Amino acid sequence: MRIGIIGAGAMARALGSGWTKAGHEVLIGARSADAAAELAAALGAQAGTIPEAAGFGDVVVPALPVPALTEVLDATRELLVGRTVVDCTNAFAPDAAAPEGSTAFVLAEDAVAERIAAQAPGAHVVKAFNLCAAEVWQSRERTFDGRRLAVPICGDDATAVGLVATLAQDLDLHAIPAGGLHRARYLEAMSVFTVGLWFAGHDARAMFPPLEAAFAVVD
Ligand SMILES: NC(=O)c1ccc[n+]([C@@H]2O[C@H](COP(=O)([O-])OP(=O)(O)OC[C@H]3O[C@@H](n4cnc5c(N)ncnc54)[C@H](OP(=O)(O)O)[C@@H]3O)[C@@H](O)[C@H]2O)c1
Repeated sequence: MRIGIIGAGAMARALGSGWTKAGHEVLIGARSADAAAELAAALGAQAGTIPEAAGFGDVVVPALPVPALTEVLDATRELLVGRTVVDCTNAFAPDAAAPEGSTAFVLAEDAVAERIAAQAPGAHVVKAFNLCAAEVWQSRERTFDGRRLAVPICGDDATAVGLVATLAQDLDLHAIPAGGLHRARYLEAMSVFTVGLWFAGHDARAMFPPLEAAFAVVD
């Protein structure tokens, strides 16, 4: 698959490195030509501009801070028509109500994936890869407590969701189709809530029983 990644930061590196290793053709497009070239060289990818990444392939990943999206989408929206746009973003902002000395976040915007879809009509927007830290996507560790790390995927276009599921499997992840793009906001909320628990030192995984114990009564 041909994958254009916009941005040359932590998520571009983490996702791009796994996909180049899986044999995909990746182009890193960033506003800094040096940053794009440096990351591309490290990954065995191609380097280019942001429009070149947007027009490169089947899949485009804006690996950008949410405040950068408006400007970048305005500059690339025609190029995105018909392509799968993977939204991995989280609009984290500091929680002003958090107790003194603690780190907590709220969402500065609660439905980024839907906003991207509205701003880039004709693009097939799919939410994925927003729940775990870049270090986790970069790592080879995929099984925790005997369970494979899973990636919920929300999108309206079945073909686009299928492409992203394949890309998740290529990172040795378990892909979970999780409904339409209207549900992507729940992944965004899940991320900010879970990261808050982790920052506070709580084991978010311990909140849930395994599937076989999820309901008291088996129907
Ligand atoms: N890091 C994580 O663990 C993680 C996990 C899940 C989801 N996410 C989400 O993934 C997205 C990317 O995160 P990241 O950690 O990869 O960020 P990052 O390391 O800070 O990299 C951000 C990239 O975006 C570029 N950028 C920033 N503003 C821009 C603008 N106005 N126009 C064009 N390019 C711009 C930066 O370029 P410059 O270097 O030139 O500023 C950099 O290449 C965020 O939305 C984040 O919430 C991150």
